[in-house]
Parts: sequence; structure tokens; C-alpha cells
Amino acid sequence: MGGRLPLVVGNWKMNGTRVTNVELLAALRAAGPFDAEVSVCCPFPYLTDVALSLQGSGIGWGAQDCSQHELGAYTGEVAAAMLAEFGCRHVIVGHSERRLHHAESDTLVADKARLALAHGLTPIVCVGETRAERDGGSTEAVVKRQLSAVIHTLGHCVSQIVVAYEPIWAIGTGLTATPSQAQAVHSVLRGQLAAASTRASEMRLLYGGSVNAGNAQELFAQPDIDGALVGGASLRAADFSAICRAASHVALGSTGKSRT
Ligand code: PGA
Repeated sequence: MGGRLPLVVGNWKMNGTRVTNVELLAALRAAGPFDAEVSVCCPFPYLTDVALSLQGSGIGWGAQDCSQHELGAYTGEVAAAMLAEFGCRHVIVGHSERRLHHAESDTLVADKARLALAHGLTPIVCVGETRAERDGGSTEAVVKRQLSAVIHTLGHCVSQIVVAYEPIWAIGTGLTATPSQAQAVHSVLRGQLAAASTRASEMRLLYGGSVNAGNAQELFAQPDIDGALVGGASLRAADFSAICRAASHVALGSTGKSRT
């Protein structure tokens, strides 16, 4: 198979204004093009603006959630079909903040991923353990349980998703997993995917949790880390561009990483 093209996705969360978004995206465009795939997931109301700012840049855009329902009487929800109309390439599903604050279950997250795929979007499915789960030695069991619900729902189509491993204790805390801690979990996830799909070696597995310009390169050098889901640093053009450049270096093979 060919090498995996690194993917860097910005997760703006509930941040931004129309004015600052335009500035951020103009600076990001100016810093590109990158030899990695780059995408930004913005709040829903900004999708039109973001699409206008990024059109023709090669940088993709997406959303941070979608409904598990096709259409209908679900006040406040946004359908995957609607995101597709706005040219979204990606949609994050199962972010830990949604699992926590909106009580999203593993099966609900899997249903969201299924609908995203059905509408031509690439779901970025987040998995990750809490600090207590890591300390209790259950990291592997937790991420496998989360991913297995998605595999169960999608079957061999699971090869069309992107998985993001985001240890909850590392999100927004400045405490990044060490490259070897992250690699260990990525390797478990790829093994689990390999049991479900012959294409597991082509899938992109992202790391997320306090990724910044200083730690990105070392994370991307790990054999099973194919990019990043970036929160805080994606709101600063210089930092996010530096992370995209670090991923481009991996794509160009300057770290010597083997991607077979
Ligand atoms: P962070 O967030 O980079 O600010 O830690 C990552 C995420 O939650 O996706």
C-alpha cells in the first residue's frame, strides 16, 4: 500500500467570532500549502464564512458534531446531510466533551459516524480514557470498548473513518501523552481495526490532547500516529501552521519514519 497522508484537524470548539475567524483563516492560507491534509472544524453558524475563506486553498472544513437522526423533529440538532450541503469534509463525533456533557454513549457515537459516512463525510471518531481509568490500568479496555461499538455498527466500512485518540487528562491541560504512551494506544487501536478490516493499515489514527508546535514533530514520528486533532493551538495561526508543517515533514519523509 501507499503511505498514509498525515492529517491535521483543528477543533475550534465553541470559540471564534466572524472577524477573528477571517483573520485566522487568512493567516493559515498564507502559511500553506502544506504537504499534509489540513482541515478545520468550526461551530455550525460559521460554516458558510469558513467555506468562503478556504475555498480553493486545499484546506478542508467540517463540524464538531452531527445528529444521529436523518432529519425530523429534533429541535436544536444538525443533520449530517446539512453539513454535506455546506461542503464539509469532516465531522468530529464522540468528542469526550460531548460524551461527558451530553451523555453520549458508545452506540450513539457509532450511529453518528454511520450517518456521517452515509452522507459522504469522514467522521473523526474520538476515543480516550480519563485519568482515573489510566491510573486504574483500564486505558486499553476503555478505548477498545469505545471503538468496538463503531466497528460493530459500521462493519468493514470502518476503514472509511478517522480515529482520534484523545486521553481526556491531556485535553486542554498542557499535559500531553508522551509519544510512547500515545503510540502504545494507537498500536492497540490499529490492531483492533485490523481484525475488522483488511484496510486498517491505510487508516489515519490521530492523536489529540495538548498538541502544540513544540511536541507535534515527535508525536508524528511514531509509527502509528498519522496526525493530530488540535484544540487550543488551532486558534492561533502561527501554532497551527507549525503543526501542519511538522506533519508535512513526516509526509515528505524527513523524519525517516517508515509508513508501510
Ligand atoms: P487541546 O484539545 O488541543 O486544546 O488539548 C484537543 C481536543 O479536545 O480535540
